[in-house]
Amino acid sequence: MGIQFKDVGYSYPGIKTSYDALENIDLEISAKDEFIAIVGHTGSGKSTLVQHMNALLLPTTGNVIVFGHSLPPKRKEKINYLRQKVGLVFQFPEYQLFEETIIKDIMFGPKNFKFTEAEALEKAKRAAAIVGIDESLFEQSPFRISGGQMRRVAVAGILAMEPEILVLDEPTRGLDPKGRNDLMAIFNELHEKHGKTIILISHDMDLVAEHAKRIIVLKEGRLVFDGKKEALFEHSGRLQHSSMSIKAFIFSNTAS
Ligand SMILES: Nc1ncnc2c1ncn2[C@@H]1O[C@H](COP(=O)(O)OP(=O)(O)OP(=O)(O)O)[C@@H](O)[C@H]1O
Ligand SMILES: [Mg+2]
Repeated sequence: MGIQFKDVGYSYPGIKTSYDALENIDLEISAKDEFIAIVGHTGSGKSTLVQHMNALLLPTTGNVIVFGHSLPPKRKEKINYLRQKVGLVFQFPEYQLFEETIIKDIMFGPKNFKFTEAEALEKAKRAAAIVGIDESLFEQSPFRISGGQMRRVAVAGILAMEPEILVLDEPTRGLDPKGRNDLMAIFNELHEKHGKTIILISHDMDLVAEHAKRIIVLKEGRLVFDGKKEALFEHSGRLQHSSMSIKAFIFSNTAS
């Protein structure tokens, strides 16, 4: 089980013409033990791709299957089930914080998924511990903490739903080096210790070179590389396993 894309295309509807943001995407992602980076130019379709993974977008053509359910699922209630299984953290997720206290914000997801108040609190506490938000902060407003802490609270809100696959759309963007490293350490631990599949969109090639095991490269809505990180280095003809090799591949014309 996991996520499959079969010849998927997605077009954003326009007033006169629609815009093809994804074309002919075939993908297979396991629900366990993967650490995938999705890279590509701005506008290449990365965010559009991952929004299919928890049914925020539905394919225009082809088929997306998430934990055995072809999208859209036959029963509407299944959408919640899929969103629990595949947790998606948007770019700048702190803009979506809205509750009056930090703990309430983290509890929002589990409560929405029909867990009792006590169960939601338990899950929220566990998630807060994972991201390093201390209990002394629980009753504070999420708007009175630092940007890095806000980002952690937002991530905890997704973790509280205990997803099997965690999808992160540029999670470290705008953070300082310490904030970035702290957050990456959390994702690494979720991957290494708990076997969670992590899917990370990033423009930061140093981060990709350091953490990802598998790399997916998108170019103008098409998948131009999908394989082990080492294979990308070989493919790009570079022996050095560095972020420069990935950059060279993405920006090279031979990629299409
Ligand atoms: N809501 C929308 N309506 C119309 N077109 C859209 C919409 N959202 C995205 N697009 C277009 O679809 C294409 C893919 O966008 P997407 O946001 O998936 O790219 P991206 O790779 O995530 O880019 P970035 O690195 O800038 O976040 C772009 O050309 C974009 O302009
Ligand atoms: Mg994007």
